[in-house]
Amino acid sequence: MRSFAGRDILSLKDFERGEFMQVFEVAEDLEPIARSRRNGDLLSDKTLVTAFYQPSTRTRLAHEAAMHRLGGHVLGFSDPRMTRAGDFYQESIKDTVHMLEYYGDAIVMRHFQQGAPAEAARWASVPVINAGDGWGEHPTQVLTDLYTVMKEQGTIDGLTFLCIGDMRMRTMHSLGYALTQFDAEAVFVSPPEMSLTDDFKAELTDRGLVFREVEHVREAIAEADVIYMEPVVQADYTKSRDEAGGDKGLTPENYRVTRELLREAKGDAIILHSLPRMDELPPDVDATRHARYWEEAFNGVVMRMALLALVMGATE
Ligand code: CP
Repeated sequence: MRSFAGRDILSLKDFERGEFMQVFEVAEDLEPIARSRRNGDLLSDKTLVTAFYQPSTRTRLAHEAAMHRLGGHVLGFSDPRMTRAGDFYQESIKDTVHMLEYYGDAIVMRHFQQGAPAEAARWASVPVINAGDGWGEHPTQVLTDLYTVMKEQGTIDGLTFLCIGDMRMRTMHSLGYALTQFDAEAVFVSPPEMSLTDDFKAELTDRGLVFREVEHVREAIAEADVIYMEPVVQADYTKSRDEAGGDKGLTPENYRVTRELLREAKGDAIILHSLPRMDELPPDVDATRHARYWEEAFNGVVMRMALLALVMGATE
């Protein structure tokens, strides 16, 4: 198995089953530090650089929290308009990364251009972690999600994932790739204009994933072990920033999970949502036995602790 030390985390496309398990084991080992709300010292001699070209609440702050929990240091930017990449100069990723690599020991990057973190990794001598690139991938979020499934269901094998929402979303791409490494099935529900592309479906089929598409959540909710949600009232992820404005519209019933609908779900089915949410997941679902998105949010810190410790060579 490949070592994680010095490695970029750009995609789950080439992640192998054993590597998922290794990451989950390290996360489990480090979880008590986060749960006890103490800061340790595993990365006390390391610095993380955050380069966020798109807004984020969870991904950036979970990486920063993870670094603090391990005693490390953090610097970076969350608004590219305050850098030379976002002003008159439009500084290139290559030139920017040639600076950032001297400021820390790993770079976590979110960008509106698909492939930007991979481009950064070409030029950086330190590991680059993809924190979401356009409609591309969101590997650290899906590692968080699958770690949550392992914790809550004890397995990923044998489960049916009901994936609801905009299939252009980067989480859906990373999840599709990840599930090919497990004996799991997927059912996808999305508006036609947000459905899986033919190319991606062919790729998933080639990689052995068993999946099908349905038109309404109600058609598949009874068989789901994991209800995996994203909004369909959605921002444009190819923009550096998509301002709120006017009437955003409402989510059609086909793509909503309500308390009423959950009466048809398995008793132990869990709902994951990487958040933020719109009206596809009403707040009154939070009190049901199915909601696991707050545990998922906590696990987001734990998973970033594991990934940072691994790529910085502090653990194997
Ligand atoms: N789930 C997620 O990526 O959230 P943020 O956009 O807040 O980072």
